[in-house]
Amino acid sequence: MKNIVIFGPPGSGKGTQSEFIINKYKLQHISTGDVLRAEMKNETPLGQEAKKHIEQGALVPDSLIIDMLEKCLDDNSNDNGVIFDGFPRTVAQAEALKVMLNKRGQDIHVMLNLQVPDEVLVERLIKRGEESGRSDDNLETIQKRINVYNEQTVPVIGFYEGENKHVAIEGVGTIEEIAAKITAAIENA
Ligand code: AP5
Ligand code: MG
Repeated sequence: MKNIVIFGPPGSGKGTQSEFIINKYKLQHISTGDVLRAEMKNETPLGQEAKKHIEQGALVPDSLIIDMLEKCLDDNSNDNGVIFDGFPRTVAQAEALKVMLNKRGQDIHVMLNLQVPDEVLVERLIKRGEESGRSDDNLETIQKRINVYNEQTVPVIGFYEGENKHVAIEGVGTIEEIAAKITAAIENA
């Protein structure tokens, strides 16, 4: 079983590379951003609460995210494992994930940290905003998301370094080139 965390700043390619990994390893994909956007679309209480934070480029509170994630794990059992995309985003979430997996007799196989310079992130997200209309893909909110990543999410790297699970991946290049580096990291972990 391979439970994988795909990690990186907004626009680093977590969603894009997850598609490749789920096809290759037949994993379950859990993107907390995708789950929250579905809740927003359905105007559920969680969606209405999340919207306030997402449109500001801020994180949704840990307690809501951790409960939501636990429910996703209960609803989606997959013997091959799960790829966690956009989660954990705080050290508290990383610790909670470890407890949730250990309770199920599982652990994280590897944490893949996609590294992309800020100017490339901004360029990719502005382009996606024009194409998809995602409400947080405008210059002001993109910059806030990058700041929130640096302040609240970067400490998660230290957590996985401490667990000996962290692998840095250069996230600039073609999608295929990056996928090849990811495959090597998963096989060598
Ligand atoms: P989330 O949905 O996770 O968004 P994000 O982290 O900001 O990242 P993105 O989805 O924008 O980027 P990505 O890394 O997936 O890149 P992608 O593959 O799409 O979270 C949104 C919000 O929800 C958060 O701000 C927060 O409010 C809330 N939230 C979610 N999870 C939370 C949590 N755990 N705790 C608290 N709050 C949470 O690629 C981006 C673009 O680049 C695409 O257009 C793609 O086609 C293009 N691209 C990808 N790879 C390449 C390449 N190699 N070359 C050129 N272009 C490329
Ligand atoms: Mg994404």
